[in-house]
Amino acid sequence: MKSKYSCIENLLFFPPVKYNKEKLKTKLKGKNILITGATFGIGATITYKLAETGANLILVARTKEKLLAIKKVVERKGGSAQIFSTDLYNQEQVDILISEILKIEGGIDVFISNAGKSIKRSIYKSLDRFHDFSRTMSINYYTPVKIMLSIIPMLKKNNGHIINISTLNALIAPVPE
Ligand SMILES: NC(=O)c1ccc[n+]([C@@H]2O[C@H](COP(=O)([O-])OP(=O)(O)OC[C@H]3O[C@@H](n4cnc5c(N)ncnc54)[C@H](OP(=O)(O)O)[C@@H]3O)[C@@H](O)[C@H]2O)c1
Repeated sequence: MKSKYSCIENLLFFPPVKYNKEKLKTKLKGKNILITGATFGIGATITYKLAETGANLILVARTKEKLLAIKKVVERKGGSAQIFSTDLYNQEQVDILISEILKIEGGIDVFISNAGKSIKRSIYKSLDRFHDFSRTMSINYYTPVKIMLSIIPMLKKNNGHIINISTLNALIAPVPE
């Protein structure tokens, strides 16, 4: 199928991604990796890839059954996972999640902030739907910031990383390390 993007757009928007599985294992074995929105799409794909590294995955989404199913897959791949059924729109549930995260032995090493939403409805069909905007801000911005503020001391201690999955990132060319 012919790509709708030019060659240069393809290179800028979708740079080829290659990684060394063995190196990843060496770096991540025994690390605690927190992934939000881990049960579908990009989050699930990241979870499956990381299951093979020996990292302890801390998986967050709302649907308990999906979390249990993905935990089983992780364990079948030789990994380990803790699951948290949390609605990231709900600040009371987010506070409980944070208090559980803060108890994790060794602290968080990597936070992959992936759960997020976009509004696809036209603005004219959104005039009575302010709640869509507050929920989008909550899951895309306020909740990740709240989690980050709580775990930054742990990340600093562990020399950790924050990885933010967003639509905008797809348009930014990768920066050399
Ligand atoms: N797909 C794309 O083309 C694309 C492109 C660029 C950027 N992105 C960004 O990449 C990220 C992932 O996108 P995706 O398309 O892979 O997502 P997706 O398939 O819609 O999956 C969303 C994940 O987040 C969880 N989730 C949704 N609402 C939640 C909530 N309120 N609380 C807790 N968990 C919640 C879902 O599980 P539950 O429903 O069980 O909670 C699921 O695990 C998003 O931030 C998105 O903006 C996506």
